[in-house]
This record gives sequence, C-alpha cells and structure tokens, in this order.
Amino acid sequence: MPTLVNNEKNHPKKTKTPWPTKAAMEQIYKLNLWGGKETEFYSGEGSHHPAIVEPYIAAVKTFLDSFKEPITVCDLGCGDFNVGKQLVSYTAKYIAVDIVPSLIIRNKEKFKAANLEFRCLDIAKAQLPKADCAIVRQVLQHLSNAEIKSIVNNLANFNYIILTEHLPNGAFEPNKDIISGQANRLKVQSGVNLQASPFNLKIKKETQLSTVVLNNEKEVIKTTILQL
Ligand SMILES: C[S@@+](CC[C@H](N)C(=O)[O-])C[C@H]1O[C@@H](n2cnc3c(N)ncnc32)[C@H](O)[C@@H]1O
Repeated sequence: MPTLVNNEKNHPKKTKTPWPTKAAMEQIYKLNLWGGKETEFYSGEGSHHPAIVEPYIAAVKTFLDSFKEPITVCDLGCGDFNVGKQLVSYTAKYIAVDIVPSLIIRNKEKFKAANLEFRCLDIAKAQLPKADCAIVRQVLQHLSNAEIKSIVNNLANFNYIILTEHLPNGAFEPNKDIISGQANRLKVQSGVNLQASPFNLKIKKETQLSTVVLNNEKEVIKTTILQL
C-alpha cells in the first residue's frame, strides 16, 4: 500500500494570519506541494496512485451505472482531473469546479467532451451549478470548519453527495479545526464527518462505496454516498 507524505513545508500556518483559500491552493499548485513534476498541476498521490484511484473509479462507475438514465454530476474541487476524467462518460452532464483559475484554464484545454464543462468557483461562496449528484473528493479534509460549514449549506440541492475523505483508521474525534491549506486533519488525529458537530448534516441514507487502507493500516481513504 502507498505511503503518503504530509509535506508541511510552506504551509500557510507558518504565516501569522491564514491565507485566503484561493491563494493557498494557488501556492500549492505553483510550488508542487502535493508532489508532481515542476510546471505540472498535481493534486497529490490520492489523485494518482492506482491503489487509491482504481477501486474508487470502479465503485463510482457502478453507482453511476445503477440509474436507468445517466445522471448529472458536479465535481466540487476537481483538481488536476486525473480522477474526474475517468467518470465523465458515465454521466449525462459533468460540471467540474475548482477555485484555482490557472488550473481550470489548463483543464479546459486538456480535457474535452460534449457533456463536460469546467468552471472556476469558490464552492464555499458561489452558487453551485445544479446537478443530481455532487462529488467532493479529498477536498473538505484540507479546509477549515468555517469553510466546510459554508460548503455544507451549499449542498442542499443535490440528491446525492459522493464524499471521499482521508481519515485515521478506527475511532477518532471528528472535525478538529484546521487552517485551510495543504495539510489535513490526520496530524491532529482527526478527520471530517459531515453528520457530526459542528456540521450536523441531515441525510436520508449513507452507503459505504470504497475504502482504501494506507500507511500500515493507520489511515483510510473512505468514500461514502450520502443521500440527502
Ligand atoms: C487534494 S485536491 C483533490 C482534487 C480532486 N477532487 C481529486 O480527488 O483528484 C483538492 C482540490 O480542491 C480544490 N479546492 C479547495 N478549496 C476549494 C474551494 N473553496 N472551492 C473550489 N475548489 C476548492 C483545490 O484547489 C484542489 O484542486
């Protein structure tokens, strides 16, 4: 199983005040803080390692194929689109959104399909495009609780959320707060749980879709479908 590196060099926490999320995410891509070659956009091992990506894609394809008619999807925090590009053909319409303008420009040039659209939006602030299902994959884990709260308020119009979070394996105290940026809650032995306080998202049903165990079974990347 892959070993993920939680590189904290240049993390905005080292500055006196937190950076706005847009500036933090732009910096992450500019300095390749999630890895990858210089000059390329890279969203991290979680978006590229076959042992992480392949079971996820297989499980999400099965979910998308379970509908009589293809559904519409909004990918919130689409990143370098190595993952999203594999799902587009299973949807009626795929709208991929990210906060980093240069990444969206690059994605528009690199990935083209009749049913695919990219938009540059801050998902904590903007009105989100309408779709049957939101995909939120390894995004909330990098964001502060205040920002997650705004995003949760923005999710009400979706029927389904396919949520992927990198979490401690086993019991943990959920939703310890962090500053939005490169890191996640693992370093404070925590992870995001939208149904727990302070988010208290009310759902009709939760279905486990895929789980990848990492780092000597200390961590998991878990994907769940939340039906709203
Ligand atoms: C770790 S990457 C994951 C990318 C992709 N979801 C995947 O799984 O491959 C997190 C992405 O979320 C984006 N992001 C973070 N905060 C955001 C916000 N408030 N609005 C839109 N995108 C955001 C970042 O720019 C980054 O591309």
